[in-house]
Amino acid sequence: MINTDLFNIKSKVALVTGASRGIGKAVAIGLAKAGANLIVCSHTSRLDDTVHIVKKIGVEILGVKADVSKESDVYQLVKQSIDSFGRIDILVNNAGVYINKDVKDFSEEEWDLIIDTNLKGYFLCARTVGREMIKQKSGKIINITSIAGLGAMPNTAVYAASKAGIIGLTKGLAVDWAKYNINVNAVAPGDVATEVTKEQHPDHEYMARVLNSIPMHRSAMPDELVGTIIFLASRASDYITGSLIVYDGGWTAMI
Ligand SMILES: NC(=O)c1ccc[n+]([C@@H]2O[C@H](COP(=O)([O-])OP(=O)(O)OC[C@H]3O[C@@H](n4cnc5c(N)ncnc54)[C@H](OP(=O)(O)O)[C@@H]3O)[C@@H](O)[C@H]2O)c1
Repeated sequence: MINTDLFNIKSKVALVTGASRGIGKAVAIGLAKAGANLIVCSHTSRLDDTVHIVKKIGVEILGVKADVSKESDVYQLVKQSIDSFGRIDILVNNAGVYINKDVKDFSEEEWDLIIDTNLKGYFLCARTVGREMIKQKSGKIINITSIAGLGAMPNTAVYAASKAGIIGLTKGLAVDWAKYNINVNAVAPGDVATEVTKEQHPDHEYMARVLNSIPMHRSAMPDELVGTIIFLASRASDYITGSLIVYDGGWTAMI
């Protein structure tokens, strides 16, 4: 019989970035249902709904407005988390932005937005939370990357650069922080049905082509990622570090 206690994250403290909507919101709610206490952030003030839902589940939650690309915001986010909960056991680096266009049309500001949020933001959160985890001598860091970090898709070069960078950051941190009992892993979703995918790809023809490339012929729903996150946040994955779990309905398996 499976030892379900291996997956127990009850009373653990989890920080989820970019939890106002999409994957981050679903992951925060999923971790709360599994009994974890939460700190959530986004850079606007749209966290109310996530905070409301999590409170109703019956665990503790702190919602903080913070821009992950700003060192001072991340410092305050982590300070408030430690002041409130005393520790951070799980970090889900999720806050990200996506711009779909050819590099020839990209501005410097757009490059900076993507790299500062998707890559620098993950570095700043991992570093600042990691310092606390090093003191605790334990921690689980889960970086949400993308299959765009593994292979090219049209008009995603800059996004792909940021997501490939996250895979490198994950492996490097895993190597350096294994000695502190900190596991660092990445999850690479394929197509997940969130607001950003609808905003960036409103045309049905594009989506039909995407779905045709996915052996399962459907997008993932955001809450389907929760099981993988709980696995990587729990004792069940204690010997896994520097790994990438591809969550794409078989998209990258197809040639
Ligand atoms: N959806 C997909 O198909 C897909 C596939 C592969 C990978 N991913 C990755 O999964 C993650 C979440 O994607 P999603 O589809 O859920 O995106 P989303 O619906 O656009 O949500 C993004 C979240 O990140 C937050 N955010 C953006 N910039 C931020 C900043 N500078 N500081 C703090 N928070 C910030 C947003 O907060 P605000 O409310 O403040 O804007 C929002 O909560 C991203 O890293 C994305 O690259 C998504």
